Amino acid sequence: MTSGSDSFDAGEFRKALGSFATGVTIITTRGADGAPVGLTANSFNSVSLNPPLVLWSLANTSMSLAAFRAAPYWAVHVLATDQEELSARFARRGESKFAGLDVETGIGEVPLLKGCSARFQCRTAFQYEGGDHVIFLGEVLTFDRNEAAPLVFHGGRYAHATRRDPLGAKPRSAFLEGSFGDDFLGYLLGRSHYRMFAQIRRHLEEAHLSDQEFYVLSALTLKRAMSVRDLDAGMAGVLDENSHRAIQSLVRHGLAREAAPEAGAAGAAGGPAYELTEAGREAALRVIAAAKAVESRMLERLGAGEAPVLKSLLNRLLGVIDPEAGALWGAADAGTKEPTA
Ligand SMILES: Cc1cc2nc3c(=O)[nH]c(=O)nc-3n(C[C@H](O)[C@H](O)[C@H](O)COP(=O)(O)O)c2cc1C
Repeated sequence: MTSGSDSFDAGEFRKALGSFATGVTIITTRGADGAPVGLTANSFNSVSLNPPLVLWSLANTSMSLAAFRAAPYWAVHVLATDQEELSARFARRGESKFAGLDVETGIGEVPLLKGCSARFQCRTAFQYEGGDHVIFLGEVLTFDRNEAAPLVFHGGRYAHATRRDPLGAKPRSAFLEGSFGDDFLGYLLGRSHYRMFAQIRRHLEEAHLSDQEFYVLSALTLKRAMSVRDLDAGMAGVLDENSHRAIQSLVRHGLAREAAPEAGAAGAAGGPAYELTEAGREAALRVIAAAKAVESRMLERLGAGEAPVLKSLLNRLLGVIDPEAGALWGAADAGTKEPTA
């Protein structure tokens, strides 16, 4: 432990401060010349409930300093987890940060951003010198909020916030000591997959598709044309046999066909390439829409904001278990993403 500013290592001090996880805000105001002004700030904090007061601090070097010094009103936007890009935009110095943004106008003509977890419209109550920053204390005149999960900043990086299990909610363990408990990752992933897929399967049955045919059909929506070898690589053991049988069945039912050589992906070694027919595209989009509806219902029950956390962690897990997975689908050509028109 160090004390006294002379003995501070600035980098270490910054790191130590970064261990305090915060939300991320954008503070906006209107300059004396009428131009919208704003910057990303995580120094925001609540001060008092009654009267309602909040504070934040602004670096003396900030290009926005003069505008905030003179501003009677400003607004704090607590960013939602999907607003990382907006945060990065307002963390850039000076440049026209509002270009192309759809903003509302608040008290004192202050520009208000949309889609945030919460917004506080404030009147400047006090300004204090705070070392190399100016501290702004504001009286909250009005606010609004929604259930969107907040963006988090921790250790110099953006992070997700997720609720913890209630204290005492421990995983159950089996009667045979050393056996799987219900916190075994394989159990959690496997059971989640099978239960989710059971709901999707009902829609496949309506479309007379087997699981395998559905996998191959949806894979063919990612690239214009794929050979059996491409498909097998993409399935990575998901199918219990190779993709050949499924593709032949799709061809028989008029949902896929052999692609003309110039459609790409085919090679002598990979065998002929296959593409969706018009009927195949329609069938694929119908079942994929149904599968996405199953996903939405599940994630809605999970709670607002938990889905990005879950997906981010699963993506990272996949990156560890199957580093090539990203590249498999990454090469999708633009034309295939368009809906059938
Ligand atoms: C997550 C995050 C939090 C930040 N918090 C603050 C802050 O509290 N106060 C501050 O002055 N700058 C903060 N910054 C830096 C400013 O956003 C950045 O310096 C910006 O370029 C200032 O813009 P301006 O010079 O146009 O005013 C933060 C940046 C990030 C990415």
